[in-house]
Amino acid sequence: MALIPVPYTKYVSLPVGSFVKIKGTPAMSFSMNPQLQVDFHTEHEDDSDIAFHFRVYFNSCVVMNSCQCGSWGEEVKSTDMPFKNGQPFELGIMVLSKEYQVIVNGCQYYTFPHRLDPGSVKMIQVGRDVSLTSVIIA
Ligand code: GAL
Repeated sequence: MALIPVPYTKYVSLPVGSFVKIKGTPAMSFSMNPQLQVDFHTEHEDDSDIAFHFRVYFNSCVVMNSCQCGSWGEEVKSTDMPFKNGQPFELGIMVLSKEYQVIVNGCQYYTFPHRLDPGSVKMIQVGRDVSLTSVIIA
């Protein structure tokens, strides 16, 4: 399947009720410590505020955070690890009224209560060590 170059950037709006679906495969063995990063930015610039930062360290944990005025907020970490070495994944992020809900391969794993208005998100970025096959915003 044709790959989508990373880092992938798309201008979006992600109001409550929208859904992001990302399909890909870790680009290398978990023993090499690959990562996946998804950021929901509030402007069209790389250094803009981040309403939702989702970073997967495939061989250890998932970290979630927000970033305002260049400063990271309180980090939320989970060692729940549904991603499998060498296996394709389907990552869904649902924008609910109070929180983002993260679904991996059809199962709900993480939640991140809103710190910034989800209606302020203008750009999504997906990057790091993944072979990306599809990003759908609905
Ligand atoms: C830092 C990392 C940032 C971001 C942040 C989240 O350690 O350098 O890229 O992931 O944690 O709390």
